[in-house]
Amino acid sequence: MKTKIIRVSPESIETDYEVLIEPATALRNGELVAFPTETVYGIGANSLLDNSVRKIFEVKGRPQDNPLIVHLHSKDVIRKYAIISNEVEEGIISKFMPGPITVVLKSCGVVSSVVTAGLDTVGIRIPYNIIAQKLLELACVPVSAPSANLSGKPSATDPVSVIEEFRGKIPYIIDGGRTHIGIESTVVLVKEESDRFKILILRPGFITKEDLEGFVSENKFSKPVFVEYSENFSSERPISPGQKYKHYSPKSKVVLLNDKSKLDEFFKVVGNGRIGILGKFDFINDLELYLINLGFKDILKVEWCGNDLLECARNLFLYYRFFDREGVEFLFVENLGNSGIAYSIMNRVKKSASYVL
Ligand code: TXA
Ligand code: MG
Repeated sequence: MKTKIIRVSPESIETDYEVLIEPATALRNGELVAFPTETVYGIGANSLLDNSVRKIFEVKGRPQDNPLIVHLHSKDVIRKYAIISNEVEEGIISKFMPGPITVVLKSCGVVSSVVTAGLDTVGIRIPYNIIAQKLLELACVPVSAPSANLSGKPSATDPVSVIEEFRGKIPYIIDGGRTHIGIESTVVLVKEESDRFKILILRPGFITKEDLEGFVSENKFSKPVFVEYSENFSSERPISPGQKYKHYSPKSKVVLLNDKSKLDEFFKVVGNGRIGILGKFDFINDLELYLINLGFKDILKVEWCGNDLLECARNLFLYYRFFDREGVEFLFVENLGNSGIAYSIMNRVKKSASYVL
């Protein structure tokens, strides 16, 4: 298949939007189109057509029981596809959308059941990236879009990565430069109980638990509202099926390093391939010294700008892909901490890790 690569710049899209008419029409007619969002690149299909959505699972090699997010261009159309059941869902939509959040709502049954993997809920997202918005507006249909990577691999946050993995497999790739946020949207689900609401964070992201707590405290609701992480890795039937699969993994084996005293044991059992280090300045220096003492010579270091966590998020998957190209066998990653966006970044690192020390 010949892939048409369409370059667009977010700055000029208002006047150049004609270039999106052809891919938008193809999308509506059932073809796959890769496009940038503010989080990561997505591979889009018309959510109303079973066969179109099935193609996504095929090109990505994605497990069929993992539902897809439905992307819309405006809040006004949410009710065509989903039911907003309570004041908390309503509030989240009005505060955070458009933006890097996905809200799991009761489905109206309009989108294909291939999208929802047979669940009675549907994840709704309205990206704020202007190219994504224009494409969705022109396509005039809801668009299911998982991250544009082969299943299990790091998400693509730049056009080169999308082109590498999907050229020849899908008819259109829209190149809109690097994505701003770099990790996927926060996925939330609101549960109403008799005496309270719970906002469950099914996947942490750029919009953090702290942001959601701030939102709760700014508003008056008829019952108390609690915000909780709900990342159940082991459950047989997790609420968000994507939680049970290993994700985001580069070819290099990721080692999340919390405790350096465990390194001696570690190196007794693993060989001495090329080592990568991703961390802040002190972490890199300490670990490098330790490795040199053990006799390692081939060490590739990338300094993570630890003071700027947004930059860390933005670069994580790009660095993963860089270490892969460099043939790194073990990639040691520093733990950036447990609050705010660091929690979301470390969620990706943990899910990609072969070892946690
Ligand atoms: O930032 C993003 O969300 C990107 C861009 C392209 O928009 N998309 C993305 O899609 O990350 P994907 O398919 O890689 O991840 C979707 C996640 C999965 O963890 C899936 O299990 C969960 O959302 N999900 C989707 N629909 C759901 C539903 N009805 N109930 C529970 N979880 C759902
Ligand atoms: Mg993904």
